[in-house]
Amino acid sequence: MIDPRSLDDYRAHGGYKGFERALSLGPDAILNEVTASGLRGRGGAGFPTGIKWKTVAQAKADRKFIVCNADEGDSGTFADRMIMEGDPFLVIEGMTTAGITVGATKGYIYIRSEYPHAVEAMNAAIVAAKRGGYLGDKIGGSTYSFDLEVRVGAGAYVCGEETSLLESLEGRRGIVRAKPPLPAHHGLFGKPTVINNVLSFAAIPFILAEGAKAYADFGMGRSRGTMPIQLAGNIRYGGLFETAFGVTLGELVDDIGGGTFTGRPLRAVQVGGPLGAYFPRALFDTPFDYEAFAARDGLIGHGGIVVFDDSVDMRRQARFAMEFCAVESCGKCTPCRIGSTRGVETIEKIINGERVHENLALVEDLCNTMKFGSLCALGGFTPYPVLSALQHFREDFAPIPTRLQAAE
Ligand SMILES: Cc1cc2nc3c(=O)[nH]c(=O)nc-3n(C[C@H](O)[C@H](O)[C@H](O)COP(=O)(O)O)c2cc1C
Ligand code: SF4
Repeated sequence: MIDPRSLDDYRAHGGYKGFERALSLGPDAILNEVTASGLRGRGGAGFPTGIKWKTVAQAKADRKFIVCNADEGDSGTFADRMIMEGDPFLVIEGMTTAGITVGATKGYIYIRSEYPHAVEAMNAAIVAAKRGGYLGDKIGGSTYSFDLEVRVGAGAYVCGEETSLLESLEGRRGIVRAKPPLPAHHGLFGKPTVINNVLSFAAIPFILAEGAKAYADFGMGRSRGTMPIQLAGNIRYGGLFETAFGVTLGELVDDIGGGTFTGRPLRAVQVGGPLGAYFPRALFDTPFDYEAFAARDGLIGHGGIVVFDDSVDMRRQARFAMEFCAVESCGKCTPCRIGSTRGVETIEKIINGERVHENLALVEDLCNTMKFGSLCALGGFTPYPVLSALQHFREDFAPIPTRLQAAE
């Protein structure tokens, strides 16, 4: 609806209403609103945004930073890109609000290089916001200052991991930092830093304009508000659908997505990017909710759903998960760096019919080592797609997989 190049158009559609209320509330009351809204980080981990902001607000430092994670590396996801290209002032307003809340005067938006239109749209919006007095000194006629800069990544999945992203922003190779210290205490250039996903910042203007309750009224359990869900892969009506948490996986894929694009029976969906579990139809009653997915050994991540029909070979999907990890690993820890390569080799042996039972046991053992021994979620969550394939699609891993032979 909004012309992404026009600050006036953004304001005509209620833009900066939330920010103006934020200015009148002041930092403590803003923190209360964000916390009461129940907003959890939309980048994947689902950490409460209010707690993160409060930690940075309470940290004592001469400088603090706001960083927007727009690396959007998950397969089948494009919500960050669509917001940045279509409604960039929303992200700027959310980040500026974070800045005045925690006492930061500078923010960076880290965008993946594969998103040139988003880079252009964000840069143009930053220029317009500066011209309109919404970035720079004394923003919106207040005593606060806040400025923004876009930085373009160089295309590594691991640079979406927050500490690796900070390394990259500082001009080094994207390699994961051990935690603690948390970025909230020791982040960009060693200063307290709020790092949030694009969607998390984009939720802030509504929360402040309409009040925490209006946002928290949507959703279920501890998953409050709405989620922009992305339907991709072999699906009839792919796209971005924003809806309240609580809708079931089946409703999303069958009713909204219209089933497979090929018209063949749907066999599996991968939810939450390349580190997400594969769910069969039997789990389609799972509500879209952080805890409900976790209870079934899955994750909702950044809200991407990739659909596969019955021609999928789940052995190859399991192999792909390990290969992805091997290619994208930052190399800092052994379970991920070495384990993923051994995982590819072992699954290949299973595909070739070599000592299938022994090698399946070895893969499960390796997955446990990666799950509990990896430094970050790249190595730690790669077992989710692998183990879910083994658990829900065991027939594909039989010494002679008759289902796949019949399909051929
Ligand atoms: C390997 C890996 C890749 C990640 N990629 C992204 C990403 O592309 N975008 C993102 O927002 N978060 C990503 N995350 C999560 C971030 O580390 C971090 O939790 C997030 O930016 C925090 O923002 P939020 O609280 O608003 O979700 C990734 C995590 C891991 C382990
Ligand atoms: S799990 Fe992988 S990506 Fe994460 S720190 Fe270890 S080697 Fe790096």
